[in-house]
Amino acid sequence: MNTTSTETRKAMAAAAAVALVQPGMVIGLGFGSTAAYATRMIAERLHRGDLNDIIGVPCAEGTAQLARELGIPLTTLDEVAAVDLTIDGADEVDPRLSLIKGGGGALLREKMVAQASRRVAIIVDDSKLSPALGTRFALPLEVVDFGWRATARWLEAKGGTVQLRLRADGQPFRTDQGNLILDWACGPLNDPAALADQLSARAGIVEHGLFIGLATDLFVAGPDGVQHVTTSDCGTISW
Ligand code: A5P
Repeated sequence: MNTTSTETRKAMAAAAAVALVQPGMVIGLGFGSTAAYATRMIAERLHRGDLNDIIGVPCAEGTAQLARELGIPLTTLDEVAAVDLTIDGADEVDPRLSLIKGGGGALLREKMVAQASRRVAIIVDDSKLSPALGTRFALPLEVVDFGWRATARWLEAKGGTVQLRLRADGQPFRTDQGNLILDWACGPLNDPAALADQLSARAGIVEHGLFIGLATDLFVAGPDGVQHVTTSDCGTISW
């Protein structure tokens, strides 16, 4: 029987990853409800005196605002040689630790920070696990305004359906860069890496939400607690 709520599981996963944070580190601060638990826990450790001399690189304006409110010192990607550890959520995770991200629309900055990181810890509740990316979540893509309908048609020619992401007031959602988001219900992907290459090569697509080979650690919280999976486990695990 499931005795922990989704929110409790998010917090459990976040706590396990935040235990990796050491004094002196540059920390990538992810975006989304699960990553927000981690940001709050890092701030709690700072205020307890359990942690010092860390600096955060926020992956989104929303994260920067939260971190500032919590008193976490911040810098930007431009000002650091590397990020020691990024802690971020995900929308879908496959057994190779490939991800779909971008449910919050921050996929471009999240990917840039992840690519600059020595270690990327992904924190999820077990509802995010999926045997094949695209099974549970539409793939978000950040696109430019120019020709966005043509981009959507190009995607739909591959299969599935595309929706322009809208805000609650019906206006188009805008990313921190001012671009649009297309959510592509592409269905289960046989070869996400090959698709990622095709999407990266398409003009008009600024970035896509497939994160391949970026996660080094996964902390997944379920009814039996938190499981820590690393890339060395890939090939031996399944879900
Ligand atoms: C933000 O753009 C996303 O990549 C988030 O990391 C992802 O949507 C997970 O968010 P939740 O933790 O809120 O589910």
